[in-house]
Amino acid sequence: MDMRQSSGLVLLLLLALLVGLVVWMPSQSPALYLAGQVWDDQGPVAGARVRLKGTAVAVFSDAQGRFRFPRPLVGSRVTAWKEGYFIGGAGRSSSPLIHLTRLPAADNDAYEWVDPTPNSAEGHNCANCHAEIYREWATSGHARSVTGRRFRNLYEGTDWYGKANTGWGLLTQYPDGAGVCASCHAPAAKEYDLRQVKGVAAQGVHCDYCHKIASVAEGTIGLTHGRFNLRLLRPSAGQLFFGALDDVDRGEDTYSPLYREARYCASCHEGIVFGVHVYSTFSEWQASPAARQGQQCQDCHMKPTGRMTNMAPGHGGVPRDPNTLANHRFFDGSQKAMLSRAVKVSLRWQRYPNRMRAWVQLWTEGVGHRLPTGFVDRHLVLVVEGQTSEGRTVPLQAGPTLPALAGEELAGQPGRVYARILRDFEGRSPVPFWLASPDPPPDTRLVPGKIEEDCFEFPVTLTQVRLRVLYRRFWPEVARSKNWPQDDLLVLEQTFRPVFSER
Ligand code: HEC
Ligand code: HEC
Ligand code: HEC
Ligand code: HEC
Ligand code: HEC
Repeated sequence: MDMRQSSGLVLLLLLALLVGLVVWMPSQSPALYLAGQVWDDQGPVAGARVRLKGTAVAVFSDAQGRFRFPRPLVGSRVTAWKEGYFIGGAGRSSSPLIHLTRLPAADNDAYEWVDPTPNSAEGHNCANCHAEIYREWATSGHARSVTGRRFRNLYEGTDWYGKANTGWGLLTQYPDGAGVCASCHAPAAKEYDLRQVKGVAAQGVHCDYCHKIASVAEGTIGLTHGRFNLRLLRPSAGQLFFGALDDVDRGEDTYSPLYREARYCASCHEGIVFGVHVYSTFSEWQASPAARQGQQCQDCHMKPTGRMTNMAPGHGGVPRDPNTLANHRFFDGSQKAMLSRAVKVSLRWQRYPNRMRAWVQLWTEGVGHRLPTGFVDRHLVLVVEGQTSEGRTVPLQAGPTLPALAGEELAGQPGRVYARILRDFEGRSPVPFWLASPDPPPDTRLVPGKIEEDCFEFPVTLTQVRLRVLYRRFWPEVARSKNWPQDDLLVLEQTFRPVFSER
């Protein structure tokens, strides 16, 4: 055989291979180009979102319920979801048929809440399978919204040690208001008086409650509080969880886009209570640059930790991109970490022959509302201290000083308070919101996108300025009357020395 003959043979062989491939390919294409159909008990379902489970690849079913992925894919399961249905799924056979089951038509008021805490004797307790999510939630305020010690002290009028009739107290000062708090703080409770709340409902804003939220009702946000503005869908048989994933095809889960929207949080995080605008986070968010950029509460507060790769490892969970699994601490790291990233300061100097001026600027970054937000008594304190080179305090010559409200040890020092200061009908402050006048109080909290500037004037003996920013959940005099352990957060501490550019 010469060269020419052999290359002719190779060519022939190649041709045969090509013809074989062309004949073989179409018969194999369902496996490479996955295609199938979505059905319910009445026939084909159009417009269902079909996904290759655990991936970002999805297509929609057509008028005949048929779907087809546009390119060859790897993956072992396909899932489908449409509004009004549980998520369905099927193995990757040659042409998978996915059956969808309708959600129950009505909410079941007699439903018994599932306990979040781990308990091997109870099959559905969330922590049995979602251990990491449980650990995150358990350290959050949502888990303490009924039993939190400071909260209960203010509700009952007790102190840290349980002593009755000490300091502020809703039940002691305004007992008629006792039933108003449960709608947000104990949304799953049947009882109105928080002292009577028992069982799973005492776990506050818990897993099962949050994941039974089907939609937001038509009430006015701020006036229709918490559970009165949230529509639930609790099943009469089996289970039903709403979530932000559309490919969990265990038969008891469904997807809802609401779970990635600020609107989901709004009914509890906006509240005019007894005529006083106690909670305004949602409306502050609506007015913020973050909202204009489309950033939702969840984007900052449930930002994936990046550590969780499986939300129910060993219990049916599949490996997932950790950047798709939400964080249930409701803070990115911790509140302190978030605050420290969010509060920024700078200082510029002006030197005169007989005095020195320090212009302090404070602003926020990466916050979706005013700072602080949330409960009305939250506040920031800026403490400014002029010092000599030996660290001795230099007295202030002119500029703002801290009011008595800032607490005994800080009152009179150079600084500022950023807060809403509620007043009663006689003009006294601070007062609990249940005794406050509905007139909007002065509001000096930081506004995203706005710089606060103050001038502090010192004698020329000044060589440096120390700035501290403290975050406080309650007014110091309230904390003291309640014997609460100190829990101020030091948000930042920075020392500045004058630098003057040579002219
Ligand atoms: C305040 C309401 C709320 C509470 C309480 C809550 N969740 Fe969630 N959960 C959500 C929201 C909202 C999302 C979607 C967040 C996102 O994807 O940005 C979510 C997502 C999830 C997911 C989907 C996977 C993921 O991480 O995105 C699981 C699973 C889950 N939650 C389980 C739980 C469990 C278990 C608990 C209790 C230990 C719990 N949740 C408590 C609101 C809540
Ligand atoms: C059913 C009502 C309800 C819903 C829905 C709800 N929250 Fe809350 N949230 C509360 C209550 C009540 C507290 C206060 C708990 C306490 O400290 O007593 C709270 C506290 C918080 C805190 C402070 C947590 C801490 O550890 O101090 C953050 C942050 C928060 N919520 C964010 C959210 C976000 C984001 C959403 C939406 C994804 C949301 N919440 C949905 C009722 C709710
Ligand atoms: C027996 C184990 C088990 C228990 C108990 C359990 N889950 Fe799950 N859950 C799972 C598994 C498995 C998944 C899917 C994981 C995956 O696909 O990676 C899941 C998914 C979810 C989702 C996501 C649904 C979606 O479509 O976004 C939510 C929400 C959820 N569970 C809430 C809860 C709540 C709330 C409880 C307690 C009342 C609970 N689960 C108890 C195993 C469990
Ligand atoms: C752009 C990011 C971002 C968005 C969007 C955002 N937040 Fe925040 N949030 C923060 C930061 C940062 C803090 C920490 C500063 C602080 O504690 O005030 C915070 C603090 C909070 C607190 C704690 C307040 C306190 O002092 O007790 C609550 C409650 C809260 N946010 C709720 C919400 C809700 C509800 C939404 C949506 C309506 C939302 N946040 C939107 C960044 C954001
Ligand atoms: C519209 C929903 C809503 C209603 C109604 C409501 N709260 Fe709250 N409450 C919240 C939210 C949300 C937070 C968390 C805000 C934050 O962390 O700054 C909170 C936080 C608090 C805190 C701070 C707890 C802590 O440990 O830091 C106290 C105290 C409090 N509420 C008291 C009450 C009392 C008393 C009532 C009834 C008169 C009441 N609330 C009614 C939503 C509500």
